[in-house]
Amino acid sequence: MMSTFVEVVSRTALKERVEQLGAEISADLKGEVPVMVGVLHGSVVFLADLVRAMSIDLEVEFLSLTRFGHDGQIGIAMDIAEALEGRHVVLVEDIVDTGLTLASMRRLLEVRNPATIRTVTLLDKAPRRIVEVDLEYRGFEVGDEFLLGYGLDWKGHYRNVSSLWAVMDLEVLQADPLAFARHLGISPEV
Ligand code: IMP
Repeated sequence: MMSTFVEVVSRTALKERVEQLGAEISADLKGEVPVMVGVLHGSVVFLADLVRAMSIDLEVEFLSLTRFGHDGQIGIAMDIAEALEGRHVVLVEDIVDTGLTLASMRRLLEVRNPATIRTVTLLDKAPRRIVEVDLEYRGFEVGDEFLLGYGLDWKGHYRNVSSLWAVMDLEVLQADPLAFARHLGISPEV
């Protein structure tokens, strides 16, 4: 029987790809001091590794979004502290799925007149895209399974799992949010 939880990207593969992305972004932005904007909370783990793989001076900021309804409408719950006028902004995302979040976020930031806005996403669920969005850098293209670990959560859990896992049957987690913790042997009940 196939397991409900399948590791899809190992720690080693994540590390290698994040290092490549860091080198690529550093080369493209050489001579600039970009503002790396992490979109909370999912991008935190990726961002922490990505900025340490970068070889240029940079700043880190965070943005937290609120979502209303199912049409991807977003608002800002916690804003960036820095003015973005004339700056080179790199939005750091964990995963781009329908693209609705990223499209709205770019619109919100473009009015602040940054010199450029680029997006780096660790994961691209390209087949599920509803709106076209510019993605300058992507770590991995993935299918439409629900993914967990390396920043990605289920009801706030599993962000600290250091590799990336696919959930083959989401009903298992819907019925029992701690099923994956038991699978990993990190549940307090085991
Ligand atoms: P979008 O607006 O549909 O592109 O949604 C992107 C957001 O959906 C991401 O920032 C995640 O918070 C969430 N998301 C989409 N797919 C997954 C997944 O497989 N695991 C965890 N979160 C996901």
